[in-house]
Amino acid sequence: MSDHDILIIGSGAAGLTAAITLAERFKVLVLAKGAISGGSTAWAQGGIAAVLEPGDTFESHIADTMDAGAGLNREETVEFVVENAPAAIQRLIDLGADFTLAEDGDLHLTREGGHSHRRIVHADDATGWAVQEALEGAAKANPNITLMPDMVAIDLITDRHAESPSASDHGSDHVWGAYAFNKASGHVERFTARATILATGGAGRTYLFSTAPRGATGDGIAMAWRAGCRVSNMEFMQFHPTCLYNLEVKNFLITEAVRGEGGHLKLPGDAPNPGHRFMPEFDSREELAPRDIVARAIDSEIKRFGLDYVHLDISHREPEFVRDHFPNIYDKLIGLGIDMTTEPIPVVPAQHYTCGGVRIDLNGCTDMSGLYAAGEVSESGLHGANRLASNSLLECFVFGEAAANHIRDHWDDLPEPPPIQPWDESRVTDSDEEVVVQHNWREIRRFMWDYVGIVRTTKRLERAQHRVELLRQEVDEYYGNFRVTPDLIELRNLIEVAALIVRSALVRKESRGLHYTTDYPERAGEALDTVLAP
Ligand code: FAD
Ligand code: SIN
Repeated sequence: MSDHDILIIGSGAAGLTAAITLAERFKVLVLAKGAISGGSTAWAQGGIAAVLEPGDTFESHIADTMDAGAGLNREETVEFVVENAPAAIQRLIDLGADFTLAEDGDLHLTREGGHSHRRIVHADDATGWAVQEALEGAAKANPNITLMPDMVAIDLITDRHAESPSASDHGSDHVWGAYAFNKASGHVERFTARATILATGGAGRTYLFSTAPRGATGDGIAMAWRAGCRVSNMEFMQFHPTCLYNLEVKNFLITEAVRGEGGHLKLPGDAPNPGHRFMPEFDSREELAPRDIVARAIDSEIKRFGLDYVHLDISHREPEFVRDHFPNIYDKLIGLGIDMTTEPIPVVPAQHYTCGGVRIDLNGCTDMSGLYAAGEVSESGLHGANRLASNSLLECFVFGEAAANHIRDHWDDLPEPPPIQPWDESRVTDSDEEVVVQHNWREIRRFMWDYVGIVRTTKRLERAQHRVELLRQEVDEYYGNFRVTPDLIELRNLIEVAALIVRSALVRKESRGLHYTTDYPERAGEALDTVLAP
């Protein structure tokens, strides 16, 4: 049991922002399923979008976000996030985030696809690390925050887990914390709290190729869904156009800022016209069109000419400029025998971001009282059908704080948790078929890549749905019979999330933003969210 007021599941940008805000008044427990810095936040490269350049305006950032989002964004959310961006950047600076400065001492702003101005605050090409370091440093120094790594949350605690469920006056829609598997002890523990914030990140690992780290298995989305929350817009999985193509290194991102600083996409040697710059044929914004457009263009060229990859070339810029702007990418590529100052980089699209998620309002509130969500796990209305570059970290800071503020302002309305049942440890049999879990992990990621990727058809989606249901039956049976392990917990969640993605994609009878199907290639007149209710 817990003696903390608030439970936060996730220690990335969203979770730590909420923790630091709440710790001014409350005792906060933060769980991470691996290392505290193991989420996507630490891997972010390009930066954080904010209106800071003279001549730039909130209206322009709002318009760019809505344009990238193909009209599906909720305008009040976009306004809320964009208008809070400069303050969020200032808070990070106050916490010690070491952002890159221009020669005049102001923040250096870079540019990325879909942005009509320079508005990306960054720390060279490793912004996420600078942010994670600043937030983690502040959290570790705060006596009101307890950070617990290696705790894999399994399910949210709801009224049905109370020792006397019917005795609770709070109805069946309250969340009181979570059960989590302690990797060190091998046992499942109860963590109760008056409020719980899901900050578990995205579900990139549903796909075979993804820039996201190993833990991005959609646990928070699956847990919230099982508890009774609505989940929305799950068909909009974002594919980043430029992931390094390399037979050994599978998920290394080449930041969009490379294109922002002048990089060109070209056909490689195997194409009939090597060196041809193809983006101008696809969009007037060329390499700086929104991601869905650039990723689809690359996919189309790869399929048209039977290529393994295309080239991203910035070798026409001064070598010193390239090394200064992209020191980490330069070093990584040199280690792999590629000198980006003199030769092009082989790249392919890879899954990158989960636009859909647990549906929240402007306060981070979900459908269940006592349960909040912030960051990539959520669907706040900011991204619509396609996220604009560098708006994601921003969403984490703004909603991490919004959820914390709402909890603080409504603390007296949040009841104490009732006595909660311990986790049922009677399933004490250890599995002797770990191979089933490993096999199913691989299978799901493979068919999601093949059938639910950048270009979809109804037939392929139906195939995927059939496969998901077969796997679900197998894993449900397995889950019911054996002791839980971190891999099994994640597999169960991957299947849940894959089912939600496929179901949402089948519901959408149009092409919009990141969801492109050859059966319905046109955009429908009205922009409607796909909202699934349990
Ligand atoms: P994360 O940072 O992913 O953290 C998730 C946390 O939840 C982790 O602590 C994890 O351990 C924990 N967790 C998950 N499941 C469980 C569980 N079952 N039990 C306990 N804990 C759990 N966005 C930008 O805006 N700008 C960029 O430049 C940018 N670059 C990117 C580059 C890469 C390579 C990637 C992958 C993403 C990038 N993004 C970028 C996206 C952005 O980094 C993420 O959307 C954002 O960091 C998500 O933060 P988060 O706090 O929601 O989750
Ligand atoms: C990148 O650096 O290209 C990633 C930026 C983002 O995902 O917003």
